[in-house]
Amino acid sequence: MNGILIENIRQLVQVRESPEDNPSFCTGQMMNRLPYIENAWIFIRNGVIDGFGPMDSNPYREDIPLGTTVIDATGKCVFPSFCDCHTHIVYAGSREQEFSDKIRGLSYKEIAARGGGILNSARLLRETSEEELYQQSLARAKELICFGTGAVEIKSGYGLTVEDELKMLRVIRRIEQETPLTVRATFLGAHAVPEQYKGNQSGYVDLIIEEMIPRVAEEKLARYVDVFCETGFFTVKETERIFTAALRHGLRPRIHANQMDFSGGVQVAVDYGAISADHLEHTGPQEWDTLAGSDTMPVLLPGATFFLEMEYARAREMIDRGLPVALATNYNPGSCPAGNMQFMMTLACLKMKMTPEEAINAATLNGAHAMDLSYSLGSITLGKKANVFITAPMPSYEYFAYAFTSPLVETIILNGKITKT
Ligand code: NIG
Repeated sequence: MNGILIENIRQLVQVRESPEDNPSFCTGQMMNRLPYIENAWIFIRNGVIDGFGPMDSNPYREDIPLGTTVIDATGKCVFPSFCDCHTHIVYAGSREQEFSDKIRGLSYKEIAARGGGILNSARLLRETSEEELYQQSLARAKELICFGTGAVEIKSGYGLTVEDELKMLRVIRRIEQETPLTVRATFLGAHAVPEQYKGNQSGYVDLIIEEMIPRVAEEKLARYVDVFCETGFFTVKETERIFTAALRHGLRPRIHANQMDFSGGVQVAVDYGAISADHLEHTGPQEWDTLAGSDTMPVLLPGATFFLEMEYARAREMIDRGLPVALATNYNPGSCPAGNMQFMMTLACLKMKMTPEEAINAATLNGAHAMDLSYSLGSITLGKKANVFITAPMPSYEYFAYAFTSPLVETIILNGKITKT
């Protein structure tokens, strides 16, 4: 494969070259350190990062390997692609009617109780063919790529029947096969109780445990099992039953926890070794102590908090207590119809008082860790997969979260190839 040499880079961001500065994720004070090289080059070959450094150490300056594409990045920055570790981009249609209802005063819970919300998306999904669902979801996947994302976690959870959940997961697999995105699939049958199980929630949990999880594992359609552990959705006891079944089938838990309330979701996530606990708008010292020292990555979703006009997760206090955090878009039709990591970083800085350095670490390395991908993604490191983007001209990496509506992602390289979307 021919190489790509990017030269004269104003700032090569998130460079992790030495073993002592090459963690699989950043935590506490480490989150505020963002290593970068000024006036840099990077060489990409065979799909991986083959070399990088300051321009005065560029070995290819006079002797460029035959067939190399040379890109002059004067005035521009290079970032590792974002790792968006929480999305629901496979869904049918949209729910702008609920947006209007919300503006007229209904809450997210009230909309859900009227058969709107997740159940509305489930109805639409059942009426949509697998091919049409794929085409709609593919458009969103391409949108994510244009925003600078290179790896994405995608959940099921709008099917809520055995066949429709499998349909969603097959669409996720097709996105993995047919786009340059690195994809991690999650089974989220426990997203809401479908209409046909109204009054028989335990019957639906039995269906998840006895039929859905075994089929998902057998057909190798997902790596993770998620539960919306929340008042009005699934209880801690139900979550424990589902996680026990998941682990028995070799699927690792992750969780929607403490979004609307102090749900106990954080504690159950840590008890069952969940890879991540996501949302966390309602947490305090008790939850933070539980997360400290665990293998569970706290994932914050400020786009949903913004769109639902709720209180933001207390990221500043979490980081100051030594915790790691990752940022993700939560792109979905109800609480966050948006997949732009740049905007999530702006919200993280303004609304959760994270520094730009913390936001970039949270959106790259820590996001990769929350998908078991930090061994190959999330930083500029020799041998890692060449997923990077070149920005439009900009003065420094801090500009990225500052200029929050400017289209700053200019050239996208995924798996070592310049990507056309
Ligand atoms: O993460 N909270 C649960 N799931 C999504 C919302 C899904 C929807 O409203 O369609 C979330 O916010």
